Amino acid sequence: MVTSRIPGFYKLTLEERRRIAAEALGVEVEELEHAIGDGGMDAARADKCIENVVGTYAMPFAIGLNVQMNGRDYLVPMVVEEPSVVAAASNAAKIIRHGGGFEAEADAPLMIAQIQLDGVTDAEAARAAIEAATPELLALADDSIPGLVARGGGARAIELRDLGDGWLVAHVLVDCRDAMGANLVNTVAESLSDRVAELAGGRAGLRILSNLSDRRNTRVRCSIPVSQLAFGGYTGEEVRDRIVKASEFAERDPYRAATHNKGTMNGIDPVVIATGNDWRAIEAGAHAYAARNGRYEPLCTWRRGDDGALVGFMEVPLALGTVGGTLRVHEGARFGLQVAGVDSAQELAMLAACAGVASNLAALRALATDGIQRGHMALHARSVAIAAGARGDHVEQVARAIHESGAVTVEAAREVLRALTGRSDGTPPLGVPAET
Ligand code: MEV
Repeated sequence: MVTSRIPGFYKLTLEERRRIAAEALGVEVEELEHAIGDGGMDAARADKCIENVVGTYAMPFAIGLNVQMNGRDYLVPMVVEEPSVVAAASNAAKIIRHGGGFEAEADAPLMIAQIQLDGVTDAEAARAAIEAATPELLALADDSIPGLVARGGGARAIELRDLGDGWLVAHVLVDCRDAMGANLVNTVAESLSDRVAELAGGRAGLRILSNLSDRRNTRVRCSIPVSQLAFGGYTGEEVRDRIVKASEFAERDPYRAATHNKGTMNGIDPVVIATGNDWRAIEAGAHAYAARNGRYEPLCTWRRGDDGALVGFMEVPLALGTVGGTLRVHEGARFGLQVAGVDSAQELAMLAACAGVASNLAALRALATDGIQRGHMALHARSVAIAAGARGDHVEQVARAIHESGAVTVEAAREVLRALTGRSDGTPPLGVPAET
């Protein structure tokens, strides 16, 4: 049983973190190093992946901690270049954990294949003809994706939307099981378009998936007792009320909602990338969904619950896959999936959504109290302390000292470390225990 509580993980050296992560995952360190040591993909593989390749481009692969979802602990694979994101999400997940963790659920993995139709003179007749022919159309669709049908997926329904002026659009709903499904759905759209156009008495135009995959939504809820929210000089009640106000600000103002959602995507995208999924598709779907009511709104919102707790809720379309695509060629993405320890694409979507809610909470808690710069500087001071050779409890001591002195440099950190350890080179004495 994986535990996502690994206190002091951030204070360890890279090697120590690799050893502990491998242990937690039940794999050999060499396996971990093979998968992500050099970024997970060499140039020869990259050359098979896309066109005009001249090399590869690495990003940090980290593990988000403390996530408990539906009563189970998860390690969260996170690939991201922005400092503070992983620490902030892990810290917020710890607070949420004290309130019982995340409750999450995901819809069936239904993707939408769109077939654009124009020149339709009688929309009602077109609708009746397509409805009557639905069993034939679904069978035709399934014939084009036998592999998916064998895995238990396939076309499920056809819906028509009238866009006016003789324009209709047919939506074919395809259960993609554990695939993201873009290729499958595009195949379905292309295989049905002629027959659908014939039945509608119009012409077929574009045939492609919709990235507004709102039949494949994920919902996450969490409830945090105020006792867990006290922070700095603020009481739990104050922090709760300020976070609710911050949520309402985003609900009233699209300019704030964009930044609020960026903070939420800070948690979602790293999981999407770490598991080899298409983050442009996820971003497009999330933002289109955020604007579904005709105004751009926050994905994640916060309220005071009946019991006084802070309650967070988010619903977002997340078309993620755990088979196919990049996973075929990217060792790092396969390892990311292994870290996530999920059994299905739905479970992965739920985990990514939890990371999103945690990131949003972390940002709002900081913004609604001291502002984010203080936390950023404190984290930066920790990284500098570690870079200067501090380990174990010395990390915090050195970080605090350089942060307070305002000289957040490796030289200043070495100086403090020398004073603490009595060593002229600043290296810690052997046996300084690393808190784990
Ligand atoms: C920075 O990456 C994200 C934040 O701007 C999010 C927010 O403002 O809610 C801190």
